[in-house]
Parts: sequence; C-alpha cells; structure tokens
Amino acid sequence: MGQMRLLKGVFPQSFVEELRHAADKTSEDVYKDYFSNRTREEFNGIHQKESVVSRIVTFRFASTAILLRIKDYLAPQLRDFHGSREDFMLCPLFYLRFCQPGVFLSKEHEKAFLYTEPHYDTAYGVFGFSIWVPLEEINESTGGLCGFSTHVSDVVPAPLKGEKNRYNLNEYLSKAHEVDPLLKSEIVQYALKQGDALVFDPQTVHGATKPRSRRRLSFNFRFVPASQVRNASPTAKRLFDAIEKSLNLCNGINLAWLGDRLGASRVFSGLSPQEKDPRLMDIAAHFLSRSAAPGQADARWNLHWKQEYQWLAGENQDVSNVYA
Ligand SMILES: [Fe+2]
Repeated sequence: MGQMRLLKGVFPQSFVEELRHAADKTSEDVYKDYFSNRTREEFNGIHQKESVVSRIVTFRFASTAILLRIKDYLAPQLRDFHGSREDFMLCPLFYLRFCQPGVFLSKEHEKAFLYTEPHYDTAYGVFGFSIWVPLEEINESTGGLCGFSTHVSDVVPAPLKGEKNRYNLNEYLSKAHEVDPLLKSEIVQYALKQGDALVFDPQTVHGATKPRSRRRLSFNFRFVPASQVRNASPTAKRLFDAIEKSLNLCNGINLAWLGDRLGASRVFSGLSPQEKDPRLMDIAAHFLSRSAAPGQADARWNLHWKQEYQWLAGENQDVSNVYA
C-alpha cells in the first residue's frame, strides 16, 4: 500500500511562474517551427498525452539547469518522505503535459470518468519517487492528478516485478463502464497552488481527472535513491548515468531522433566540451542526417516510453519507428 503526500510550497512561486512561462514559450516555439500552417486547435489536438509533439516540447523544456534547481528544492522533502539521507538521481522519464478541456484521444476517452487510467508508476525496474508539479493552480476546472482509497487496489493491483500495469489507457477505456463507479466513489482529489507538488511511491495507484473548463499544465518526473541505481540492471544504470552526465545531451539526441533538428541543434550548440561524448554525438549526427520532421502530415502521434532512449543501447533506430 503506497502513500501520496501533498508538499505545500516546496517551490517558490516565482520559480514555478518562470517554469510556466518557459513551458508556454517552448510550446509556442514548436508551433512556429513546424506547425504554423495548422490552426491552434489542430496543434492542441496533437499536443497531448505522449504524442511526438508533447515529447519534443518536453525534451526542449527539461534542461539540466531546470532539473538541478528542482532537485535542490525537493531533495530535503524527498529524504524526509523516504526516511533516508540518500542522494537522488533523476529518472529518464519526465513529462511536460498540456491538457486542454474538450481535447480527447477518442470518443471513449471523452466518455470515461478519468483522463488518465488508474496505474502504478514504474521506472526501469528501479524503486523511486514520482513527483507531480502543476505549473498553474489546480482546482475543479483544471482537474488534476488523483489518488484512490485502498479498495481500488483490489481491482487495480500493483504490478509485481516484471509485470505490467493492469490497465493501459485503451484497456481502461474498454472497461470504464465497469470500473468507473468504483473509481468515482474512491477518488482522492487535491487542490494545489503554484509551488505545491504531489509525491508518491511505486505502490501508489493514481490517475488523472479531466480538465473541465481550463487547461492544465504540469510537469512530472521521478527521482530515484542513488543506492537503487547502483543495484539496477546494466541497461538501467547506463541510462541513469547518461542523463546524470548530461541531461541536455540526452534531450538533444531525443530531439534529433524525433526529427526536431532545430531544437536539437540549439541544444547541441549550448553543450560544454565535457558534455560532448563522442559516441553519443555520432548517434546524434546520424539522426540529424535523416529527412523526417515532426511537421509531416503522416506522423503517428503516440510514443511509448520504451521507444525512447533505445539509441543508448546502440540501436540507431530508424525514424520509420516514429513516422509510420
Ligand atoms: Fe503515473
């Protein structure tokens, strides 16, 4: 049985306001760079969930500088929550999310109670903490991340090691009529101000409600106790080490992989000589030499997190994986 804790005022409001501004500007830049021939509504429709556009905006936004500042503010709270004096490492799963009222993936999504299915967070098999930071006030009009009381874990059990969550979004949507009454009665919702955050462990079932009349803007990420990374699988260790060495470089490669040459080039031009790992720079050059770009009409829009960072394993993934 997990726990979720509301951290009040963990970040200065001015810092969160800065993040909000950066998030909006980043989204605006991506629109101008690749989508100015489309309407805002069309752009909003593809700037949701784990779409290529969402991932590009996230990788452009989540710089080393921003994450280091976040970690400084959070570390004491995380130690307290964990009951340890450990150092924490950033996990390579982070999402800047723009959730617009009235924008859904399907009719079923529109009908279901939840915007995001009830699930448990996993992080490459490494124990860690998820942190959800709204960049604007969260209330009934925006909806938000939610927890559930204990009964829900009977129908949505925590996955055992190596297992998957009971529901992905599509599975939840196909069962929504059965499980929604229970979810509605057991939901635990939070009102958050700029500067507040929610933190929870991998045993905590959670989901998200729908934005009703105002957009919701949030940034979520995970931090893992350093000792857990030392004991992780070689693949996970390599991944955590790479983003610890240079998150910016990894973001740049992810952008290049997704065909965002403009964003990737900007990131690469800001790297220090120490950050330019020759093997990874070669991979980046390979991706940059391809012709696909996110503005292409035939882009397939949802990315699974397991597709990301495969370049680190030496697989110079073809872009056809992303643009079908
Ligand atoms: Fe989650």
